[in-house]
Amino acid sequence: RRTRQATTAEADLAPSAFTAGARLEGARRASEWVREVAALTQPDRIVWCDGSAAEKQELLDLLVEAGTLLPLDPERRPGSYLARSAPSDVARVESRTFICSKDEADAGPTNNWRKPGAMRAELREVFAGSMRGRTMYVVPFSMGPVGGPISQVGIEVTDSPYVVVSMGVMTRVGREVMDLIDAGAPFVPAVHSVGAPLAPGQDDVAWPCNDTKYVVHFPESREIWSYGSGYGGNALLGKKCFALRIASAMARDEGWLAEHMLVIRVTSPEGRRYHLAAAFPSACGKTNLAMLRPTLPGWTVETIGDDIAWLRQGPDGTLRAINPEAGFFGVAPGTGVDTNPNAVATFDRDTIFTNVALTDDGDVWWEGLTPEPPTHLVDWQGQDWTPADGADGRKAAHPNSRFTVAASQCPTIADTWDDPAGVPIDAIVFGGRRASNVPLVAQAYGWEHGVFMGATISSEQTAAAEGTVGELRRDPFAMLPFCGINMADHWAHWLRVGAALDAAKRPEIFQVNWFRKGPDGSFLWPGFGENARVVAWIVDQVDRARGAGPSASSATTGSAATATATPVGRVPAPGALDVGGLDLPDGALDALLDVPVASWRAEADLTQEFFDRFGDRVPAALRAELDALRERLG
Ligand code: PEP
Ligand code: NA
Ligand code: MN
Repeated sequence: RRTRQATTAEADLAPSAFTAGARLEGARRASEWVREVAALTQPDRIVWCDGSAAEKQELLDLLVEAGTLLPLDPERRPGSYLARSAPSDVARVESRTFICSKDEADAGPTNNWRKPGAMRAELREVFAGSMRGRTMYVVPFSMGPVGGPISQVGIEVTDSPYVVVSMGVMTRVGREVMDLIDAGAPFVPAVHSVGAPLAPGQDDVAWPCNDTKYVVHFPESREIWSYGSGYGGNALLGKKCFALRIASAMARDEGWLAEHMLVIRVTSPEGRRYHLAAAFPSACGKTNLAMLRPTLPGWTVETIGDDIAWLRQGPDGTLRAINPEAGFFGVAPGTGVDTNPNAVATFDRDTIFTNVALTDDGDVWWEGLTPEPPTHLVDWQGQDWTPADGADGRKAAHPNSRFTVAASQCPTIADTWDDPAGVPIDAIVFGGRRASNVPLVAQAYGWEHGVFMGATISSEQTAAAEGTVGELRRDPFAMLPFCGINMADHWAHWLRVGAALDAAKRPEIFQVNWFRKGPDGSFLWPGFGENARVVAWIVDQVDRARGAGPSASSATTGSAATATATPVGRVPAPGALDVGGLDLPDGALDALLDVPVASWRAEADLTQEFFDRFGDRVPAALRAELDALRERLG
């Protein structure tokens, strides 16, 4: 079956791949399913992928020949390529993303829901003949180390070789995955078509796609159907579609957690090790925190993952996390030597760049890579670009341009990053971009309060008026576009998972805000590498919560009480946050930790309105947390 086959398009058109059911099991069902998808989509040929280096090179050569990929200068950027997408196919399409649970309430008010039967009928029409003239690739992949206790497998069929190559970077693809499926492992079936069939003799374009797009999830049958886009989040179905939307349904049913979280390993000067998992909405510096270079002497931060974490109680009772991915699909603009030197070192070779600008010497550039742009570029749409165009506001790189690169190339990758058993999580951190109200850091009073913090994450655009609480955008658990179940059920599930953990091993929960501003509108906190100071306070609080005693490094700040109770949580006591050597403006630290009671009362009212959107699915414990917050506010 893994040899290249001739067409199977004459096979029976019976659409049983579309009937809802249990997860597909076993090799027989895998090949049956592939045959059914081929019968529907009518590819010219089928290729079963083995994930080998030879296969990757063959596909890269084919993509260069097709004009999809442009090889970069092998001296400057070895093994690297530039892709320019269709200008209309540059981002996730949330308005065309559907959760098709049997019951609308299981998708909840934050998702687009469609009746499964009606959507299946619609998809049948859309996918009919959609791969004509193309090759259908069958890509068996694992999310997490192959065969690991927290890992899961899937099969993506796709008519896009760009997707095959990218899946090979972002997931583990290969023969061992098919061996698991052959042995009966349940797999998530994921169908992807760019939706651009070719008539006989018709020339292809560099980036085939379709103006009509669908990104569809059937949470009960754990299926994914994606049509019309070649872009990452829409087409690399292991990532947002499987590892977050489908996985959040699996996790709810099976007692684990699928989260939009980075994971880092932190080592203190005295050699104590901690693991943090942190959720932030887009554009709040998640990849920067994942690759943090601490400014505090003696501290080390190592990267486990930058986007997704799967967490499950381990045999030792700790909450263990894996990064289910094998690569980074990072936003390029704003990633530079000053903001994230580790990312810059990661993509110095063997990287696929999409929608960035091309330099005259065959390398890449984007806004923020270097302080000054080169004197001439070819922009992401293939047009000439000079700094004068930049001064007119024309970007050389698309704001959502990306790098796709293996995690193993990251200089700060932890040696445990691919441990199948995961790493034990000590602290969970929720963040957002808030000009006002939310302190630099606050520790939750307990698990339920921490879940309340996650459920009420909000972020505001930098342009938003300061302190205008009415302009908050709620992004609970930073999962708003990624939660495949009713968001309130996600909160209830967190409460259940926490209750099942041994109290002595349960992670402490924190909220952070790097983006608080002073009265003059400037940021109060320097951020980036200085965030290590906050991380150091967090892990010291973890030690104290566990009775492990203060760390030597915290003792150097000479403070006995390390935390002060406020209505929203425990914040660093005076002197407890190490700000030695930092040039903070007068009063900045007080302003960073201030909890203004009147605006928090107003925010509590907004939280109630937000909860009311979910009606009686909101867990009573979270309503009680809101009451308790109001009580503390007085
Ligand atoms: C994506 O769009 O594929 C993606 C990874 O999204 P985000 O960066 O918003 O998490
Ligand atoms: Na069609
Ligand atoms: Mn993300």
